Amino acid sequence: MKLLEGKSVIVTGAGGGIGRDFALAMAAAGAKVVVNDIGASVKGEGRDAGPAQKVVEEIKAKGGTAVASTDSVAEWESANRIVQCALDSFSSIHAVVNNAGILRARFFFNMSVEEWRAVIDVHLNGSFYVARAAAPYFKSQESGAYIHMTSTSGLVGNLGQANYSAAKLGIAALSKSIALDMARYKVRSNCIAPFAWSRMIGSIPTETDDQKARVEKLKTMETARIAPLAVYLASAAAQDVSGQIFAVRANEIFLMSQSRPLRSVHRADGWTPETIAEQAMPALRAHFYPLDRSQDVFSWDPI
Ligand code: NAI
Repeated sequence: MKLLEGKSVIVTGAGGGIGRDFALAMAAAGAKVVVNDIGASVKGEGRDAGPAQKVVEEIKAKGGTAVASTDSVAEWESANRIVQCALDSFSSIHAVVNNAGILRARFFFNMSVEEWRAVIDVHLNGSFYVARAAAPYFKSQESGAYIHMTSTSGLVGNLGQANYSAAKLGIAALSKSIALDMARYKVRSNCIAPFAWSRMIGSIPTETDDQKARVEKLKTMETARIAPLAVYLASAAAQDVSGQIFAVRANEIFLMSQSRPLRSVHRADGWTPETIAEQAMPALRAHFYPLDRSQDVFSWDPI
């Protein structure tokens, strides 16, 4: 029996990139799939029903079951329609993959309110809306799996991505909160931070030979390499896995750390700003984090 036989799964942003491979892999594992995608540009502009429908046809051509949904994750009512689509089409819902995403990269000091809101709306608010819309069904059936896409841009850091990084770290906290609040209903929630060559990162300039060589290496991070972990997390095989953050890069899978105290200092008579400067900071400084970006931490070529 296949891992997701008889299950119904929603994949948002499944018209292309990583989400498309999620939808194909979920269907290949036996799931009935809602292929949700508004067919927007990387920046989230425009609409096209074509990409979602095309993936549905690919799934059907291979003998799978899928239905297209072109509602946006970024508004509460339309996010509810995505969940309703699964119920109308398959009479059930077992897993939600919050994958839809856009990019509006800009240095913080130049970022507009519109750029901030657009990215928070699709990633953080969208993940909440779709997850929340599915929650009553997961709760009453006492089972369900959430998979949310986070990013090392938020978990570690990146330049020019204040909106995206904040949204993606927010999603990690959302996932942990869902895992805590819904554990009593046997509902699980996990995050994946993917590294994959998609249109989202395909805009890296390739003018010099160095840049061209780097991009060739990045292309080995195929979007399809992320899907096996998502299928596993959606399945009953992962029934004891919740509240975790994984990263996937080509053939590497990482379990990511979560914030815990690193070191503490204590003074029986309390602290003044002066004693903090003289004693607390020198003691803590050795454990400060450098201003790392994702690429400083993942500094080796994809394997
Ligand atoms: P992509 O741009 O190829 O796919 C994103 C999809 O989301 C597009 O098909 C787009 O039409 C859809 N979408 C955008 N706004 C939507 C909305 N409001 N409602 C429904 N669908 C919407 O990007 P990619 O790379 O496949 O990204 C997938 C997820 O993985 C995103 O959440 C992204 O932030 C995350 N991610 C990707 C990384 C990478 O290396 N490619 C790195 C870290 C995170």
